[in-house]
Amino acid sequence: MKYCLITGGVGYVGSHCCKELAKAGWTPVTVDNLFHGHSAFAKWGPLCVGDVRDGEFLDSVFSEYRPDAVFHFAGLTSVGESMENPELYYSANTVGTLSLLESMRRCGCRNIIFSSTAAVYGTPEYSPIDESHSKNPINPYGQSKLFVEKILADYDRAHGIKYTALRYFNAAGADRECEIGERHSPETHLIPLVIEAALGRRESIKIFGCDYPTPDGTAVRDYIHVSDLAAAHIKAAERLLGGGASKCMNLGTGSGSSVLKVIETVRRVSGKNVAAETVQRRAGDPPNLVADPSEARLTLSWDCAYKELDEIVETAWNWHSE
Ligand code: UFG
Repeated sequence: MKYCLITGGVGYVGSHCCKELAKAGWTPVTVDNLFHGHSAFAKWGPLCVGDVRDGEFLDSVFSEYRPDAVFHFAGLTSVGESMENPELYYSANTVGTLSLLESMRRCGCRNIIFSSTAAVYGTPEYSPIDESHSKNPINPYGQSKLFVEKILADYDRAHGIKYTALRYFNAAGADRECEIGERHSPETHLIPLVIEAALGRRESIKIFGCDYPTPDGTAVRDYIHVSDLAAAHIKAAERLLGGGASKCMNLGTGSGSSVLKVIETVRRVSGKNVAAETVQRRAGDPPNLVADPSEARLTLSWDCAYKELDEIVETAWNWHSE
């Protein structure tokens, strides 16, 4: 049996990755503290409930399964919350990864695929953003992940642990077969919130700022389908296990959509109206984040299967309306 360890494997991106891993012949072993994860998403391999900051617990999972690689999804992901409670982010994201790396060292596991983020760049100096763009995070979430990237480089140099840090732009959409999807509590992400409004589960959607220096004044993001993210993880792991060097790579589609475009798209896909009101900008939000994904395309021979926002929103709509 070919095992890999997935932290956060019953979360949003992690569960989609488990599904792809199982298709590719792996047995994904999930480690999750279930603070945000859903045990019902553990469909493709065992679930070990515990926290990545608990070294003894991690060591026991490593010794039971002897995984060849680790996919590290566990962590906190809300930019707004990180502005209010930065300590949560440095603990879960930075300290959590350090604990995981120490356990990997003790147990002799030498390959890690890390969920990094476009938030490491901060406010873009140019667009689309390539990997050499300066890294000046404007929120603790991005900072907590950038610290990890630096730690990973040091662990590679000093301890020979190989890594790929995948800098996700905005993960969106859901599994085409609707076995899993996006479910956060509370929900803070734009696409699910707009869909909930279209389904009548909330009254309206708030647009955080209409005075950004973007074509329609609302913030622009690069929404990438979660199954495309998952596919890139498999390729990244195969590359590392084949002896590939450590690297950081953007994962995005290369095209941006504004908040207004997202709302319009949900209206079109769902055929429902969505009431929207404009409010103040949300602290910690850059105006636009669009990836230059050339590096991942070249290095991983990977590309997005979902190119249009309509297709991505449709999969999210199908999941949420089921
Ligand atoms: N937005 C609204 N109204 C809402 C919610 C969001 O206008 O009710 C706006 C935000 O201000 C932002 C855009 O919609 O401009 C997208 O916001 P999300 O909260 O959906 O996503 P973020 O861009 O804040 O963050 C996401 C992930 C991070 C990742 C980041 C990288 O949560 O993990 O994308 O772009 F780092």
